[in-house]
Amino acid sequence: MPIIKYKKYENEVHLAVWQITEPHDELLALLPSTILTDAELASIAHPQKQVEFFCSRLCISYLAKKIGFEYLGIKKDEYGKPYLVGSSWQMSLTHTMKFVAVVMHPTKPLGIDLEKPNQKLLKIGNRLFSDSEMAFVNDNLDKLCMLWSAKEALYKLYGKRGVFFRENLFVDEFDLRTMTSKARIEIDDWSSKHQLLIEQIEEFWMVIAI
Ligand SMILES: CC(C)(COP(=O)(O)OP(=O)(O)OC[C@H]1O[C@@H](n2cnc3c(N)ncnc32)[C@H](O)[C@@H]1OP(=O)(O)O)[C@@H](O)C(=O)NCCC(=O)NCCS
Repeated sequence: MPIIKYKKYENEVHLAVWQITEPHDELLALLPSTILTDAELASIAHPQKQVEFFCSRLCISYLAKKIGFEYLGIKKDEYGKPYLVGSSWQMSLTHTMKFVAVVMHPTKPLGIDLEKPNQKLLKIGNRLFSDSEMAFVNDNLDKLCMLWSAKEALYKLYGKRGVFFRENLFVDEFDLRTMTSKARIEIDDWSSKHQLLIEQIEEFWMVIAI
């Protein structure tokens, strides 16, 4: 079972990262029909997307067991935000072709995202990020990627539609010594403050928003 990282942060955030190495059918055989329903399987057409889906559910199952509760599956709310069946633990997940990462917290909503530095961000950054964010990023591709990952993680934490990266999600400059930052979500009459935890997983930048 290729869990390559398990971490419990000081603030009760639990993280697990799974490296995708196993073939499709081997992963499928590990998932009971109670966790992976026929309807879920039928809803994902692409074999690579199925592999990511299998690993994400196995990673959630691993983390639940590590924390000490039984994983009974996940469902999605009307916006597509996942939640654990039969548990009040909050969770978020992200998957790429190479890694799956899952975070959980006993009470607080949270979000996670993994992104790889990509030159296209230099072109679209001005549309997605504020002037002050673009100033502290200063065309550094790694920081730009962290910022993108931070905004996606905040988006997942909030979980509802009508959120715009530039207008509603605000990220402070990263502290590269502690690999943390602060952020705010401001939408209509909603305002909340958050902590960001940053990790490098090989060539990816991972951000957890809590
Ligand atoms: C929903 C969204 C956040 C998913 O992110 P992604 O990078 O495409 O994919 P990830 O692998 O990181 O995350 C996928 C997981 O997000 C979760 N997710 C989907 N909708 C969600 C929501 N509304 N709230 C919280 N989590 C959500 C799901 O669990 C999904 O995994 P699953 O389908 O296996 O259960 C993304 O598609 C999105 O809509 N982003 C914001 C839109 C935007 O403005 N983007 C600008 C970028 S150019």
